[in-house]
Amino acid sequence: MTTRVLTPSEALHGRGSTVVTTALAVGTRAAVDAETRWLIDRFVRHGHRHPDYWHFTKQATGREVLYRVHNLQDHPVPACHALLAPDGPLVGVAQGLLGAPVLWTAFAMVVKMPSVAAPVPWHRDRVDVPAGAALNLSVFLDDCDVTNGCLQTVPGSHLLPDESDVTNVVEHGPVVDVEARAGDIVAHDVRLVHGSRENTSVRMRRSLCVEFSTQDGMPRG
Ligand code: NI
Repeated sequence: MTTRVLTPSEALHGRGSTVVTTALAVGTRAAVDAETRWLIDRFVRHGHRHPDYWHFTKQATGREVLYRVHNLQDHPVPACHALLAPDGPLVGVAQGLLGAPVLWTAFAMVVKMPSVAAPVPWHRDRVDVPAGAALNLSVFLDDCDVTNGCLQTVPGSHLLPDESDVTNVVEHGPVVDVEARAGDIVAHDVRLVHGSRENTSVRMRRSLCVEFSTQDGMPRG
């Protein structure tokens, strides 16, 4: 008997997530890297506050900790915007994985600041679409592993009914850590039960997150 490695599309449909490696060109990555550092610097060093700059306050110190810049399409980061061009790298990856023309429906930068970032609780992004109709692409700009807040998933949970209890699903597991290298894209079905670890390291963990749906909101086939 031979075993075959799943294609990214097969992994997405079967397990609910997949990693597309080294998906960004070096020059693109450098430009996006610089823009995201600028976004973070605005908040941390220059006191910039805006409703799209989501943050929490660390109780012990009173320090405000940035964790998301939402609606990235409305902020002056042209290299990030270029990622969403019709012939850009993300649309091609999303179409390849979903097997149909796509639209993007949300765009944000997520950052887990060194040593202070909290875990993201287990959740499903949404269950108002069938499996295989919408996915989240996270473009990693830093290596991410179990020490700086990598994604965790319950493989196959995107296929569970809408009303499944997330806590119960996680207790039954299995729970898998999804590590990635800078430049990789991690894709997961929006229905997948997932969360992410806290950042206990001294390394930042940044990603650009884009939600894509098939244009008719239905899975292929
Ligand atoms: Ni999520």
